[in-house]
Amino acid sequence: MPDIAHSSHMKMNAPTELVRQHLIDPEICIRCNTCEETCPRNAITHDSRNYVVKFEVCENCKACISPCPTGAIDSYRRVDKSLPYPIEEQLTWDTLPQESEPDPDQTPEIPDEVARITEIATAGQGGPALPPWSAAHPYVGLFTLARPATATISGNHRLTAEGASSAIHHIVLDFGQTAFPVLEGQSLGIIPPGLDEQGTPHHVRLYSVASPRNGERPGYNNVALTIKRVLVDHDGNPVRGVCSNYICDLKKGDKVQVLGPYGTSFLMPNHPGSSIMMICTGTGAAPMRAMTERRRRRIALKEGGQLALFFGARAPEELPYFGPLMKLPEDFIDTNLAFSRVPGEPKRYVQDVIRQRADKVISMLRDENCYIYICGLKGMEAGVNEAFADVCRDHGMDWNTVLGELKQASRYHVETY
Ligand code: FAD
Ligand code: A2P
Repeated sequence: MPDIAHSSHMKMNAPTELVRQHLIDPEICIRCNTCEETCPRNAITHDSRNYVVKFEVCENCKACISPCPTGAIDSYRRVDKSLPYPIEEQLTWDTLPQESEPDPDQTPEIPDEVARITEIATAGQGGPALPPWSAAHPYVGLFTLARPATATISGNHRLTAEGASSAIHHIVLDFGQTAFPVLEGQSLGIIPPGLDEQGTPHHVRLYSVASPRNGERPGYNNVALTIKRVLVDHDGNPVRGVCSNYICDLKKGDKVQVLGPYGTSFLMPNHPGSSIMMICTGTGAAPMRAMTERRRRRIALKEGGQLALFFGARAPEELPYFGPLMKLPEDFIDTNLAFSRVPGEPKRYVQDVIRQRADKVISMLRDENCYIYICGLKGMEAGVNEAFADVCRDHGMDWNTVLGELKQASRYHVETY
């Protein structure tokens, strides 16, 4: 643990201005790189040991808070504004420094409880996102870098047609005697073996759970994943993604190191009459498949509520799970597909179908028991946002107001990567 007495944070006699310095807890951080990818200011960096926050760059916008799977990012220490912990010091930590004694003359009286309530009240305005009120209790971080779970591959088959332009695999992990409880919408971390070009261990990659809470096969201790083999980067240049290719190449019986589970807000509602609007592209179908399958397994209970799916893919043969062969009844799920690369047909994205189904979308937005989930390509977020804004405007509603209300009620959940 950093020795406060020897750090630059010894109490000074000169008057100090105390501020909250944003830090990352090295004990919980799984080094998955999500925060660094998310930060709009490039305030986060890392070396082979730690992920750290540059005090002078971080604007405390909180964009990194909810994507962090472990909560390690949600760490702060009160420091003298002129003496923040430099990144060189943060990079040496194994644990966060102890909170120094608040100075009664300098520290505003904000008890932790009040700070927490303020954070909850500001959820949706950059604060931590909360799950639907009827979501089940999630377990998080049961397995860590220091103590990963070992799972055995019990299934690996390609979901997209042979010859389709992308290879998406359905992977089944069997946890044997190890309890690895997951809920629909949660994700887990996979550690690819080996070292990167700098000779340091590969960072953990996150994958959404694609099976319901009672297992890919009901009653079995297994979990499904939906993994796209990354062979080109986001700009279309050839690459060979480290973890996706490692997983897609695994054979039945192979062992894999797993962390998690993660995710406390992208969880489905459980109360009777609750509806779910699902908007996804590509492997963003994974959590939608988990939620749909959970509802399908309980269909006989007639709990009510609707399911509506807006799913964007390149072509029908590239649709994981919701392709033409899967005949889910129309009165169970309202499925709307958008294909972008069908020869001879115009390019269509999920946002086009949202506009096309405006009446349905509006009625679901107005239903306080309807929860909205968006998952898949980061790029679709802006387009979906614009589509909602258009649909709302055409119905005399202001999307920014509606969005604020949806977030306040924990009805709007986004997970893009
Ligand atoms: P890397 O070796 O990390 O990257 C190689 C190059 O490819 C880099 O240039 C990188 O920028 C680029 N790249 C990374 N990802 C993609 C991509 N998807 N498409 C094109 N280029 C890319 N992935 C899934 O397949 N299924 C999931 O269910 C899933 N769920 C996720 C859930 C969360 C919460 C998050 C944060 C991510 C999720 N991902 C999912 C993405 C996954 O974590 C990895 O980023 C992805 O598999 C690429 O890892 P890699 O090691 O193969 O590629
Ligand atoms: P595109 O054909 O333009 O790439 P992928 O298969 O790469 O995971 O993508 C899934 C689907 O998401 C594809 O149809 C892809 O279309 C589409 N897509 C790409 N960019 C966007 C975006 N900005 N908004 C919505 N959909 C998008």
